[in-house]
Amino acid sequence: MELFDVYSRWDVAPVRARGCRVWDADGVEYLDLYGGHAVISVGHSHPGYIAALKDQLDRIGFYSNAVRNPLQEELAQRLGEACGYPDYALFLDNSGAESNENAAKLASFHTGRDRIVAFRRSFHGRTSGAVALTDNPAIVSPFNANHKVTFCDLGDAEGVERALAQGDVAAVIVEGIQGCGGIHVPEAAFLQALEALCRKYGSVLILDEVQSGYGRTGKFFAHQWAGIRPGIITMGKGIANGFPCGGILIAPEFQARKGMLGTTFGGNYLACAAALAVLDILRKEDLMANALAVGEHIKAAIPASPRIREVRGKGLMLGIEMTEDVAPLRRRLLCEKHIFTGVAGSDMIRLLAPLCLTQAEADRFLAAFQEVLAL
Ligand SMILES: Cc1ncc(COP(=O)(O)O)c(C=O)c1O
Repeated sequence: MELFDVYSRWDVAPVRARGCRVWDADGVEYLDLYGGHAVISVGHSHPGYIAALKDQLDRIGFYSNAVRNPLQEELAQRLGEACGYPDYALFLDNSGAESNENAAKLASFHTGRDRIVAFRRSFHGRTSGAVALTDNPAIVSPFNANHKVTFCDLGDAEGVERALAQGDVAAVIVEGIQGCGGIHVPEAAFLQALEALCRKYGSVLILDEVQSGYGRTGKFFAHQWAGIRPGIITMGKGIANGFPCGGILIAPEFQARKGMLGTTFGGNYLACAAALAVLDILRKEDLMANALAVGEHIKAAIPASPRIREVRGKGLMLGIEMTEDVAPLRRRLLCEKHIFTGVAGSDMIRLLAPLCLTQAEADRFLAAFQEVLAL
């Protein structure tokens, strides 16, 4: 049997990793400024993380959500305190897409409405509802296209108000920072306007923090730079540093009803142990502050070049928009300099490094980038 061939893959097979470094079977070291697509938050193979998972596996790895799970309760308590939402409730699932599905479903149950406002250049995942909220026709099948979605421009509060005024909008969903669509940071005033409009028209504001969350931008969630409080916050990727885990934070006004949401694997013991270890390490190693400092260092030190159109983003969620196709540059960075980078569209190099990236590692990237630009 062969693999179903849907991924564009580099010809590199990592077998070992530590911090922001990855090695292949021949011992070649790579610097990871991609973080496995924003998933590695506290660093590859962190000793505290490994110990927590091994310890949990020795105790109990899985039981279903039919029983009480003290680890889920501890995670809800500690996450609420760490992120500044102690009065919200936590529902755990398995991925970013599933979190957005659950958020959309909950908003629809809550309001009795069936339309969602999303934004151009958005990415919310690949499952049925999440992909319908994603502004990329190439990945939306006819089956997915049956959902009622209105797309507005990021920043166009008047357009959003026109949509909300129709009275059928359950929710507005927006990324803390648009990631896959090219690192577009919503203005604080725009997020504040969305919050006010959702309140005015009785719609739910959903903040997708799957990529921008958990400290990557220097605050726990990117929307906290705007000082707003969404109805639902969706999470995934880095929350368990590579162990599959997602979840949503739900404001106190939402009523839970038995059976309205559910999952087999969501909130299992290993996922909770991993997520708790991430919270510990984030705090002990002050990684949110590090992400902001090292990210801002990279932003300030990217060499000036007529080939660079703009450098956008915050903390360790950065995009270098070029005036050219970035594929050859990324290939050089990987093959000649042994540096993993991400991409958004054809003209942006996207950097999503683990939050423990050091200034020396950032400087190694900066020097390499300058050299490949000069070639
Ligand atoms: C903002 C955002 N939301 C949702 C998702 C989907 O997450 P997952 O691939 O875990 O389903 C992603 C993945 O890249 C994302 O960047």
